[in-house]
Amino acid sequence: MDSRELGFPKYMVYCGLVSALTALSCGYVIGSPNVPENAIRGKNGDCGPDPYTIQGGFPNCFEFADLLWGFAVGSFCLGALAGGLIGGTVQNVYGRLRAMFISNIFFIIGSLLLGFTYHQAQFIVGRIVIGFGCGLGGVIAPSYLGEISTIKGRGTMGTMFQLLIVVGILLSNLFGLGLSTPPKWRILLAINGIPPLIQTFLMPSIVESPRFLVSKNRLEEARAALQKLRGPNSNIEHEFADMVQLLLGSAGTRAATTNQDSAFEDVSTKTDAAAEPAARNGSPHSYSIVRLFTSECRGLAVMGLMIHFLQQASGINGLIYYSTSFLGDVFGAGNSKYITVGVSVCNLLSTLASVFLIDRVGRRTLLLISFAGVSLSSILLVIGAYVDVGVLVVVSVFLYIASFAIGLGPIPWLLLSELLPTYALSSASSVATSVNWGTNFVIGLVFPSLNQALGNGTFILFAAFTALGFFYVFFFVPETRARSIEEIMAEKGVAPRTDFL
Ligand code: GLC
Repeated sequence: MDSRELGFPKYMVYCGLVSALTALSCGYVIGSPNVPENAIRGKNGDCGPDPYTIQGGFPNCFEFADLLWGFAVGSFCLGALAGGLIGGTVQNVYGRLRAMFISNIFFIIGSLLLGFTYHQAQFIVGRIVIGFGCGLGGVIAPSYLGEISTIKGRGTMGTMFQLLIVVGILLSNLFGLGLSTPPKWRILLAINGIPPLIQTFLMPSIVESPRFLVSKNRLEEARAALQKLRGPNSNIEHEFADMVQLLLGSAGTRAATTNQDSAFEDVSTKTDAAAEPAARNGSPHSYSIVRLFTSECRGLAVMGLMIHFLQQASGINGLIYYSTSFLGDVFGAGNSKYITVGVSVCNLLSTLASVFLIDRVGRRTLLLISFAGVSLSSILLVIGAYVDVGVLVVVSVFLYIASFAIGLGPIPWLLLSELLPTYALSSASSVATSVNWGTNFVIGLVFPSLNQALGNGTFILFAAFTALGFFYVFFFVPETRARSIEEIMAEKGVAPRTDFL
C-alpha cells in the first residue's frame, strides 16, 4: 500500500506517544502550583503553627507575597521563553531525538531543585529551569509529531501534545489533593522528573524524524526511518520522493532515486556525493529567525505566531493557575479544589473529543467554534460574577474550558508543522512558542492583581481577545486538514524553495 494512504501505523503512534511525554511534564509544571498553593505559602494554617518549622532538614513553607507568588508561578514561562527561542536551533543542530534528551536534563534538574527547595529563590530557579526544558520541548515534540506523521493522521498525532499537557495538568491536580500538606508538596513537585526519565529510557526505541534526516542529506537513514514508521509492507517511495523534493529540490530527488537503483554500489558514499550540490550552496536547509521574516514564508510564520498569542490571550492560564483561589472566593477553599479537578477532567474530555474530531471536522471549523465558545462563556462568567450567582459562574467556567479544549488548546501546537515547510519550521516554532510563553507569563503575573481590581470582570478583556481571534481565523487561517504543506503554501501564494540546487 502507498504510504500516503495510511492513517495510523502502530509504530508511528508509539513514537509519537514517547515524544509527547515531554508534554506530560509541561502540563504538570503548569498545573502543579494550583492546588497546593496554600500549603507552600503557609496560608490558612495549612503549614502548622509555625510556617518555618524545619522538617527533615527543610522548611515546611515559604512566605510569598501575592506578587512574588504570581512571579514564582509564571517564572517557568520565562525559562520556557528562553528555551523556545533556542529550541529551533538546538533541534536543527542535534536532531529531534538528542534535542529531546537535552530538554529532559532540564526537567530532571528543575524537579530536584523544587523537591529540595530551601528558599523562595530556589523555588523560582527550579521553575525557570523546568520551564527551559518545557520551552525546548514545546518546539521539539510538536515538530517531531508533525514530521513523523502520515498526512491522514497528522491532526490526531498533533493533538497528542496537548492531550498529554492536559493529562499532566489533571495528574498534578489529583496528586495535589493528597499531597497538599507540608512537607508532602515537595514530593508533588519532584514527581515531575519521572516522565522525562521514562522518555530518556525509551528513546533508543524510537526513530529520528525522517524529514530532519533528509534536511541533513542523510537520505538512507531517512528512508529506513520512514519505512519503519510506516510499517514493513507499505510502499514509501512516493512519500519519500515528495519529502526529498520539498527539502532538497531536484538534486536531492536525483540522489534519492539514484540510491534506490544502485543496489550493488556503496550507497552511503553515493548519497553524500549526489546530494552534495544541495549542501554546497551554503544553505543549511533551514532559515534563521531573521531570514524567516524576510522570506516568502513570512506570512505563514506571522499566522502561527498570532494563533499562539491568541491562545494565551484567551486568559486560559488565569483559570489553570488560579482557579482554586479565585473560585475559593465564591465557594470556599475546600470546595474549589474539587471544582479545579472537575475543570481539569472537563479539559481532558473535551481534548479527547478534539482528538477524535480534528481529522474529521478540520482545524478551521474547530478553531471558530472554540473562539466563539470561549468568548461567549467569558461574558457569561462576568455576568455570573456580577449578579453573584455561583451556579452561573461554575457553568460558565466549564463551558469556557470545554470550548477552549476543543480547538484553541490543541490546534496552535500542531498548526505550525502543517503550515510551514521543514526548512522554515524550526525558526517559526521558536518565535511562535516564545510569544506563547511570553504572553502566558504576563497573564500569570497580572491575573491576581487584575482579579483583585476587577473581580471576575477580568474575563471581559479575554472575551474581547477571543472575539478578535474568531474574525482572524475566519478571514486569514486556511484549512490544513488532509492537505500537504505544498498545497497550503500554494493557496497562500507561497512557492516552495527550489534554490537549494
Ligand atoms: C495549552 C496552553 C497552556 C494551557 C493549556 C491548558 O496547552 O498552551 O498554556 O495551560 O493549554 O489546557
